Amino acid sequence: MIGQNAYSFKRLIIAAYRVPFRIMKRHRKPNLVQNSGGLVSAMLTLSQRMDVHFNADFAKTIVWVGHSEHSREDFAPFTGEMSHIDIYPVQIDPAIHKNYYNGFCNNTIWPLFHYFPSLSVFDETYFRDYVRANQRFFEVIETIIRPDDMIWVHDYQLFFLPGMIRDRFPDANIGFFLHIPFPSYEIFRMMQPEWREKILSGMLGADLVGFHTNDYTQHFLQNVRRILGYQTALRTISIRRGIVKTDAFPLGIDYDKFSQAAQSPSVQKEITVIKNMVGDKQFVFSVDRLDYTKGILNRLLGFELFLEKYPRWRNRVVFNMVVVPSRDEIVHYQAMKKEIEATVGRINGKYSTITWRPIIYQYKSLSFDYLVALYNFSHVALITPLRDGMNLVAKEYIAGKNDAPGVLILSEMAGAVAELGEAVIVNPSDRTGMADAICKALEMEESEQTMRIRKMQLRLKTYNVFAWTNDFLNQLELIKSEQKRIEVRYISAEIERNMIRRYGESHRRVIIFDYDGTLVPFARYPEQAKPSSRLIDQLQRLSDDPKNTVIICSGRQKEFLEQWFGHMNLYLIAEHGAIVKKPGEEWVFEADIDQEWKKSVYPLMQRYEERCHGSFIEGKMASLAWHFRNTDADFAFVRLQELKEELLELLTNHKFHLQIVEGQKVLEVKRRGYNKGTAASHMIDQIPSPDFILAIGDDHTDEDLFKALPPDAVTIKVGAFTSNAKYNLRRQNDVLSFIDKLIE
Ligand code: UDP
Ligand code: G6P
Repeated sequence: MIGQNAYSFKRLIIAAYRVPFRIMKRHRKPNLVQNSGGLVSAMLTLSQRMDVHFNADFAKTIVWVGHSEHSREDFAPFTGEMSHIDIYPVQIDPAIHKNYYNGFCNNTIWPLFHYFPSLSVFDETYFRDYVRANQRFFEVIETIIRPDDMIWVHDYQLFFLPGMIRDRFPDANIGFFLHIPFPSYEIFRMMQPEWREKILSGMLGADLVGFHTNDYTQHFLQNVRRILGYQTALRTISIRRGIVKTDAFPLGIDYDKFSQAAQSPSVQKEITVIKNMVGDKQFVFSVDRLDYTKGILNRLLGFELFLEKYPRWRNRVVFNMVVVPSRDEIVHYQAMKKEIEATVGRINGKYSTITWRPIIYQYKSLSFDYLVALYNFSHVALITPLRDGMNLVAKEYIAGKNDAPGVLILSEMAGAVAELGEAVIVNPSDRTGMADAICKALEMEESEQTMRIRKMQLRLKTYNVFAWTNDFLNQLELIKSEQKRIEVRYISAEIERNMIRRYGESHRRVIIFDYDGTLVPFARYPEQAKPSSRLIDQLQRLSDDPKNTVIICSGRQKEFLEQWFGHMNLYLIAEHGAIVKKPGEEWVFEADIDQEWKKSVYPLMQRYEERCHGSFIEGKMASLAWHFRNTDADFAFVRLQELKEELLELLTNHKFHLQIVEGQKVLEVKRRGYNKGTAASHMIDQIPSPDFILAIGDDHTDEDLFKALPPDAVTIKVGAFTSNAKYNLRRQNDVLSFIDKLIE
């Protein structure tokens, strides 16, 4: 049984645009009908069979919050039929719903995220009502949420919901999964800044953000870096309130359900019906929702060319193309339906004989039995979307095959291709490629068909929808405990009170501040990051206290520190400890400042300054720094790796014993033998038995400082990063508030 792990949450709430069922009145007797689409299909299976696969309390009943025209009371008579699902319908005013669903969801986001930007409509009223509809979902969740719930929000219709929940319930457990592609920055940036920022921030309300593939995950990270400016490390994003994890979780299917159903008598009955209809002809099929992303027209044209190019197959093959009704209130969908029907008519008109019709077109939803019969019986599945987040039909086809042979022709633009490499892969726009693939599939040796299918089956059987869920929930648990590990280090009100008490009781204090990112926020260029008058005043008041020794320990050059702080009663450490100064004395060089080594390093850095637009070199006395703050983060990352490699090669056996130091968007080369830690320790050694040491810094170079200080020193890292410091402050601005409290 999957999911033996002791999950810390007790109840699972699924929030998705649709509830899994609608109530239909047939012959006056209402009955439940499953809603269409991959999301409902996957999550419904999961909900219904969760208790079989998960040995946990939360698996017994799953709460499902989704849009429906029906009320909770309407669903009450069906409780028995929905044994494991407790539905909380979200009712939305029809006018808002239209702008939300037909508008922002399916006329703005859907085309843009599927790389059809020309079909995307950017309309303020759509956006306004998208926010309102998300708010309606939130209002329902707000009434049912409990502290130990795990709320799993699904898909592009609810981008704002995680953020809304987080704002009101900061400690909630929230997962988000996107069932469609996440586009690259080049596409996403077409959306106006306010919308795109809010979409990303809404998603980052979750603790874990999941995608179908690694590509979508990388696109998301790229957008987060470039649009919100957050730092990312591998797949972790540091945001103000802590860290958010993102990863790829390719959605699986309930493999056994399809594989076992293939042998059931009801499916066998449907197979007989299909067999009688098809006779001795080869049978090709496709099933998709009506959608321009599914490449239905391209597929028809590919099939037409196949009949044209391979006349030997005329009269010997039947293509059953099923289109499931979807979103037919939207103009593009209506127009496409007409075009599909006209094209089917044209091709059938061109090739049909009195005994043979090449395409059997159906516009309807299929029963589960008929769908599995199609999967099991057909010789070829033609699944060729122009763009698809995953495509479950392709996976279901492989499972539904059970022991039967068959060939999957799959588009390289479907997320599923990452796991189904043994399919015959086509590009959906390549008409000739598609025609050739159909012929290749029909003529493939049965032994090869079986070999390919078995390999794919093995994979799908293992990472099924239950393993997928388990993977996601486990990752969510991990990130929650990682957050807690970091969280406990944030300075709580109680810790702060203790620190202030210790400060008040001590007589010989040493207070060490890093400068950039600690006392001042980062600016585009170092010279712009000047101290504010508030800061100067604070430093003045701190250093006026005879009990205090205040040190500014920076990577800055001595001239900058001298200009702003030289006149004050401060100890100054410049260039990470290469040059130091006591109040009222001259600057002293602690490191060898022979400039000879720069002759080999400078030209190399200069090459990277040229190769990475926006980067620049800062020449210091004892070091050379390459700043890339003002460059495209992803591009700079590549150049940084290259520069490091070249430097490492150059510095090995270099007679001057140099060292590479990485800071916040800067790489520095300096002489070995000194750092912020050694420099601060020298200064502290000159103060007779200090009884309170405080150090605050945000940079990698401050880690040397934190490590060098005695164990009872109070060390504070600025930002949500793991560190050698004992505590964290969330933001640079918090440092100044903290200093105010010390002074008071
Ligand atoms: N499906 C369905 N009714 C049908 C045909 C298909 O419920 O008449 C299901 C199918 O089994 C699959 C889902 O709809 O699970 C389609 O998911 P897919 O990921 O292929 O496409 P999506 O609709 O999500 O774009
Ligand atoms: C895709 C989307 C789902 C959506 C489904 C059906 O699978 O990812 O979120 O529910 O299509 O579309 P519909 O508009 O009918 O809900």
